[in-house]
Amino acid sequence: MIYLDYNASTPVDPKVVAAMRPFLNEAFGNPSSGHWASMPAKNALENARRQVASLLRCAPDEVVFTSGGSEANNLAIKGTFFALRDKGEHIVTTQVEHPAVLGPCRFLERLGAKVNYLPVDGYGRVDPEEVRRAITPRTILITVIHANNEVGTIQPLAEIGAIAREHGIRLHTDAAQSIGKIPVHVAELGVDLLTVVGHKFYAPKGVGALYVRRNVTLEPLIHGGGHERGQRSGTESALLTVGLGEACALAMDLEPMKCIRMLRDRLWQGLREVLGDAVVLNGHPELRLPNTLNVSFVGRVGAEVLARLHGVAASTGSACHSGRVELSPVLSAMRVPEHVGMGAVRFSLGRATSETEIDTVLKQLRKTS
Ligand SMILES: Cc1ncc(COP(=O)(O)O)c(C=O)c1O
Repeated sequence: MIYLDYNASTPVDPKVVAAMRPFLNEAFGNPSSGHWASMPAKNALENARRQVASLLRCAPDEVVFTSGGSEANNLAIKGTFFALRDKGEHIVTTQVEHPAVLGPCRFLERLGAKVNYLPVDGYGRVDPEEVRRAITPRTILITVIHANNEVGTIQPLAEIGAIAREHGIRLHTDAAQSIGKIPVHVAELGVDLLTVVGHKFYAPKGVGALYVRRNVTLEPLIHGGGHERGQRSGTESALLTVGLGEACALAMDLEPMKCIRMLRDRLWQGLREVLGDAVVLNGHPELRLPNTLNVSFVGRVGAEVLARLHGVAASTGSACHSGRVELSPVLSAMRVPEHVGMGAVRFSLGRATSETEIDTVLKQLRKTS
């Protein structure tokens, strides 16, 4: 079994498991209770908040724990819309966002929001000048993914951040895929809101965070006891937040990415040797996550290529609907021709990927091509 789908999810790191274990049974108290039984949970929660903040280079009180990426994106986008309704209703985003951004935007359109879905170039990058041109006096939010989950292309966020600041508009980024793979520092990116998703970097599923810059007001999505400084009610899970915190501490070290990048490039070189021009790269050749290789097997169907790679877990860039192969919205936005895009396969590598696994995949591809 070869796992090459780390952009979908990662296993929980053994160090993360070890850090979480005491919170399964011993430290069961409610972090908000204020008596002896709550202290271990409260201390652990606040320590985890500091660990997330250290990774992002922000203050701990700018970290709001959530149930994951979808919730963090929803809180950033809907929370802004509901908080800034009097100022405007216009949102700028791109055509290559994750459904966890597109979904809230489409929902808000039903409530009167106006949303610009900006086009991207053939590599999947948005032009910051397009962002500038889209801004109107009614714009309340710009939301642009940091690195794309399908093709790995990294957006020019710092430039977009400068434009957002110039116009006094808040900027959100979904950093689900970039954390743990490339540096993600809120001040350098110039963002006001940033989404963190635990299970993309060796924490468990069901936990994430939203960075909320100080003085940025959001209407909460979940009202209740006022947890997380009133921004997200609901008793926090020390167990899950400790896992997220530990994963953030591990993600400070980007050294393992060097080896992962080498293996990713070995796979690409190997594919070119086997298939020549019958395989093409989707995404930016350099400005791309170091673990991501999205390739098209030209003239073939991605799912069929994968079906022949026995025991290999990876993703395709197309879906079959009523017998017709449909390109993913990301590849469509990149204007990848249909006969190329339908053969797209995303290989995403991680800490446990080995040279032997890469060579096994190449051997299998050699046999089947
Ligand atoms: C870019 C991006 N954003 C958001 C999400 C959603 O995260 P979750 O499934 O934890 O809600 C994902 C997960 O697939 C993602 O890749």
